[in-house]
Amino acid sequence: MVLFTVTRKETAPIQGQKPGTSGLRKKVTVFKQPNYLHNFVQATFNALSPDKVRGATIVVSGDGRYFSEEAIQIIIKMAAANGVKGVWVGQNGLLSTPAVSAVIRERVGKDGSKAAGGFILTASHNPGGPHEDFGIKYNMENGGPAPEGITDKIYANTTTINEYFIAEDLPDVDISSIGITSFGGPDGSFDVDVFDATDDYVKLMKSIFDFEIIKKLLASPKFSFCYDALHGVAGIYAKRIFLEELGASGSSLINCTPKEDFGGGHPDPNLTYAKELVARLGLGKSSPEGEPPEFGAAADGDADRNMILGKRFFVTPSDSVAIIAANAVKAIPYFNSGLKGVARSMPTSAALDVVAKNLNLKFFEVPTGWKFFGNLMDAGVCSVCGEESFGTGSDHIREKDGIWAVLAWLSILAYRNKDNVDGDKLVTVQDIVEEHWATYGRHYYTRYDYENVDASAAKELMAALVKLQSSLSAVNEIIKGIRSDVAEVVEADEFEYKDPVDGSVSKHQGIRYLFGDGSRLVFRLSGTGSEGATIRLYIEQYEKDPSKTGRDSQDALAPLVDVALKLSKMEEFTGRSAPTVIT
Ligand code: G6P
Ligand code: ZN
Repeated sequence: MVLFTVTRKETAPIQGQKPGTSGLRKKVTVFKQPNYLHNFVQATFNALSPDKVRGATIVVSGDGRYFSEEAIQIIIKMAAANGVKGVWVGQNGLLSTPAVSAVIRERVGKDGSKAAGGFILTASHNPGGPHEDFGIKYNMENGGPAPEGITDKIYANTTTINEYFIAEDLPDVDISSIGITSFGGPDGSFDVDVFDATDDYVKLMKSIFDFEIIKKLLASPKFSFCYDALHGVAGIYAKRIFLEELGASGSSLINCTPKEDFGGGHPDPNLTYAKELVARLGLGKSSPEGEPPEFGAAADGDADRNMILGKRFFVTPSDSVAIIAANAVKAIPYFNSGLKGVARSMPTSAALDVVAKNLNLKFFEVPTGWKFFGNLMDAGVCSVCGEESFGTGSDHIREKDGIWAVLAWLSILAYRNKDNVDGDKLVTVQDIVEEHWATYGRHYYTRYDYENVDASAAKELMAALVKLQSSLSAVNEIIKGIRSDVAEVVEADEFEYKDPVDGSVSKHQGIRYLFGDGSRLVFRLSGTGSEGATIRLYIEQYEKDPSKTGRDSQDALAPLVDVALKLSKMEEFTGRSAPTVIT
């Protein structure tokens, strides 16, 4: 057995290590500065209670982006030096974010151990490569992201840190082959367990969904689908689940080999960045070769996000979670005994609210960030939740789950077609969505993103919008001067949330303008960017009249968009005449 020693290294605080909405994300060049990663990892160990570090087992893996391998070796050496007993690594350093959550919650090590938490190495949907982004976040024992109390402590630690511990003489571990490597240190043995990255997750999915009924749907000659992993880590799960377990054909998968730079693309599953999928589904500028598939889906770099498409049809994430919630009990075995409650993030449309009301379900509106759902799930009051930012999930884990969302949609399609898989015409994604609108009404919805704008200009824009809120009559005067065909603003505030479980309060979670007819304008600064500021503008309008739910979304929202841009003086503050991305 190889023995190692512990070295104490002097260090000094490095500015700017405050975790954002979902961990610390910076350019690779920033992460490669001497001690940058080391400081953050030590600050994290110091923020956790000692029993979650000394003698504990932790997971370390990620989406495989550039710098992951180097980071994993550093974290292994630091874990050893901090008294961690075992480190679990997905083969090749890969584990999707939902898989990390599943592994922390479900996996049992050879010696009967369970994980106390884990580092996830990803910058999610941000591009990867030597000049792009890297990221790191810590998930706790429940499999969910560290709560603010911990991330605040981590940050505070980074501002005072003066030492870190590392086992410099521990050799690099081969993370490409499965197996356990044992080392001997001052506190006894230290094991690195490299395991299959898909096993635990696949087992969990099989316990939630009826794979047989989905298999039948996929085998129908009338059904076809296309899954795009955008070269992120979802590819390894897609191959295993869609091909091996469900019998789909290899041609159904595109970009399913993980690459450290995501093939040079932006691994964000939306209409702008998932270009190839969008074109195949007949939603691109030019018409595709041949008939588009019936169903399409994409994932982001770490596979927690999803985009759902039908043939020539886009399902908004806000509609997606509402439709899953409305159909879950019948179509998904895991929910057969009913839903405990549902939740959405504040900027997500109110489509889910209408379902909750109709089905008499507990309902929660939380700030942006998946961590806010975790408390509700741990308290047993939320089964299904989702966000406009292409995140959907349930209480099977404590992260949003891209593949789960696809399986949920396939389950709904399979359920709706169960007596009809060989019939002339299948019930389609579009049919399901349109039926939903007919029953619950439609929330027209769009989001405008202004990426990488000057940070102080963004702050000024937001401050001006808050200032305006002090007089609703003045706001309505301005709006009347812009358009006469929108309703009056009846409420305007900055969203604030009091967690019903632990009582913690989160302030300044987005600026809201609420209109008398249920329409909303929301302005928020992104918490996940790595450079400058990103302004997000969310625009929503509710239509109950079934004869008006089939309009073109852009046409329906045009008046509100006009109001939003002029009210916020978007161009004046940012110098941008158009958003970077519209979803
Ligand atoms: C991450 C979190 C999500 C959140 C999103 C918001 O993906 O996991 O829960 O919705 O960030 O990103 P933003 O850039 O809008 O802060
Ligand atoms: Zn992600």
